[in-house]
Amino acid sequence: MSIRRFARRVLCTLAACIALGATSAGAEPLRICADPDNLPFSKSEGPEKGLYVELARLVSQKLGESPEFVWWLTYNQRKALRNTILQDGCDAYFALPANADYRVRGLLKTKPFLDVSYAIVAPSVLPVSGLADLRGKRIGVLHGSPPHILLAAQQGYATSSFRANDEALAALERGEVEVAILWGPNAGYENARRHGGRWQVTPVTGEGLGGQVAVGVRRGQDELAARIDKALAELQPQIEELARKYGFPRGKPMPLVARRVAPDARSANLSAGLTVHSSMVARTNAPAASAPAEGVIPGRTLFNNVCSHCHGTDGASPVSERDLRKLQRRYKDNWKDTALTTIKNGRQDAGMPSWKATYSDAQIEEVIGFLTTLQK
Ligand code: HEC
Repeated sequence: MSIRRFARRVLCTLAACIALGATSAGAEPLRICADPDNLPFSKSEGPEKGLYVELARLVSQKLGESPEFVWWLTYNQRKALRNTILQDGCDAYFALPANADYRVRGLLKTKPFLDVSYAIVAPSVLPVSGLADLRGKRIGVLHGSPPHILLAAQQGYATSSFRANDEALAALERGEVEVAILWGPNAGYENARRHGGRWQVTPVTGEGLGGQVAVGVRRGQDELAARIDKALAELQPQIEELARKYGFPRGKPMPLVARRVAPDARSANLSAGLTVHSSMVARTNAPAASAPAEGVIPGRTLFNNVCSHCHGTDGASPVSERDLRKLQRRYKDNWKDTALTTIKNGRQDAGMPSWKATYSDAQIEEVIGFLTTLQK
């Protein structure tokens, strides 16, 4: 932190920043962390900068500081945070999930400034006012996404799963699916920029289907957080304008309410109602590998350190839904995919946390390799 910045922060706390913001306009940099390749949110190059970047500039202006961008890819958001803002590599991180259960040690969050959620993408001629209207339609979803899990748990919904938004939208264009439920900001943006805005994109609400975002600052930077909060509140009309500019679905969100179902019904549907799109990896019916007679089984240590307090040592929980020795019996040939999806995304409603931000794909594969040795 520069002496000037430090002096100003001290003065600001003492004198509530009177006039200081104005006198130092343009002089101080506000270092902003953002993803260099994450349109419609942020982009370091090209004509379109994304909502976060444009908003960060407006916020800096309000704060009387000049924006200075620090780019870092956010495939793994926690790692990005560790490598940037948590090491004082920037002052403000655009942006983070605002929900209280997304906690990062050493970080504060501002008040939420934008709603983001999944959205139903449908031809304008198809009226969709609730989940029931999707019954009997072929629905495109991202593999393992919350809408995929939600629909797989319901009777009467036929899903096709895809790896990426653009694959799902291409299938919608070819008529291979009749509607799609995709992450709203991306679907809305692609609809506006690449598909001539031909679809209606309706935001949805429901558990795990949406939330809000906030700006992250380092712990102890309460004064900066308060100033950003004030700026964001004043910028609400501009935020709305930016959301429209980038095609984010606006309007009243439609509730996608799911009935809670017993794990057995869920598993039955997972294997029955689910069509796997051809672009998915072919499923192999490989027989379960037998456990090595002795020595270290990769994944076992992680499992017994992290997962065993809910699932029992070596997965042998007395509670049937938590007994991970029954996965193969329960889900037949689909068990590995079901386990992978569950470990990555969790089942928030049932008390199973999501682990994809904590462990790499390779680590999760190792745990599944270990689970393979347990199946009976
Ligand atoms: C805080 C408790 C908790 C922890 C920690 C936890 N789980 Fe779970 N897990 C659950 C619960 C509860 C369920 C049952 C969800 C349901 O019934 O739908 C579950 C379900 C699962 C399932 C699916 C079981 C099935 O038959 O559908 C797998 C696989 C799984 N957990 C793996 C793991 C792994 C691997 C870890 C460690 C990285 C882990 N869990 C950590 C609570 C936990």
